[in-house]
Amino acid sequence: MRHLLDIMDLSVAEIDELIATANDIIARPAAYADVCAGKKLATLFFEPSTRTRLSFEAAMLDLGGKVLGFSDAQCSSSSKGESVADTIHVVSCYADIIAMRHPKEGAPRVASMHSEVPVINAGDGGHNHPTQTLTDLLTISRELGRLNDFTIGFCGDLKFGRTVHSLISALSRYTGIKIVLISPEELELPDYIQRDVIDKNGLESYKTTDLLEVMPQLDVLYMTRVQKERFFNEDDYLRLRDSYILTPDKLDTAKKDLKILHPLPRVNEISVKIDADPRACYFKQVRNGKFIRMALILKLLKEAEA
Ligand code: CP
Repeated sequence: MRHLLDIMDLSVAEIDELIATANDIIARPAAYADVCAGKKLATLFFEPSTRTRLSFEAAMLDLGGKVLGFSDAQCSSSSKGESVADTIHVVSCYADIIAMRHPKEGAPRVASMHSEVPVINAGDGGHNHPTQTLTDLLTISRELGRLNDFTIGFCGDLKFGRTVHSLISALSRYTGIKIVLISPEELELPDYIQRDVIDKNGLESYKTTDLLEVMPQLDVLYMTRVQKERFFNEDDYLRLRDSYILTPDKLDTAKKDLKILHPLPRVNEISVKIDADPRACYFKQVRNGKFIRMALILKLLKEAEA
């Protein structure tokens, strides 16, 4: 049974194929309107979500399938103490594919070991978010026209930002990528990503606390929210939450064709005044998320049937 737990579960060729399918769905949506008729997607969200859950559900509905699930663990029997293993065992009797978000790192992997249907990791703690990475790759490829030879700045909470961890892993397999890491010292990238992904793959990288210093060299700026829910101490969160606030004046030295991404939700790190700037791509990113998830559901269901 094929699952998607980590972006590295997919080869570069498979990611290219998913991007091609997503682009075809964007161009010819009617051709995909019934391809999942009779199939059911379960969305099991043990942690809050707007984009990921609703884009998964919209994706399945637009493929002609049906959806079931829960958006709050308190409404499920996990609130009575049911294990992830038992929950998945039960849900895989009702659904053909499962998208699951959980606050504990590794929970989707445990789920995959007890599932009779494909499990998709829709975000596990501060660890991974592979379908956000597929969304990001589709957006970069559509906006830049390539997935090689560019400089990307990751700004904000690089410690807890699971979308950052997944995207850096994915980019380690492309050529000519320069990674610029912009964060306060306390929110730097975890050592294991620096060591096992950046250093091991010889990725060019540069670390700074100063966004303005590096702004002129960036082709892509990936802003992130400081992840309040992962802090042990509220005072630390309050001290760090506004470390970076992107306002129009800070783009004075940016490239005219810079692409500004953010996985969202944003809190205060991108001024709403940026939304009208043609360089802002974060709402296009949201839209792309549904199409790449349609492509992924199709691929995993097809492989499960083979
Ligand atoms: N990008 C993302 O994961 O957003 P949600 O938390 O709203 O799903």
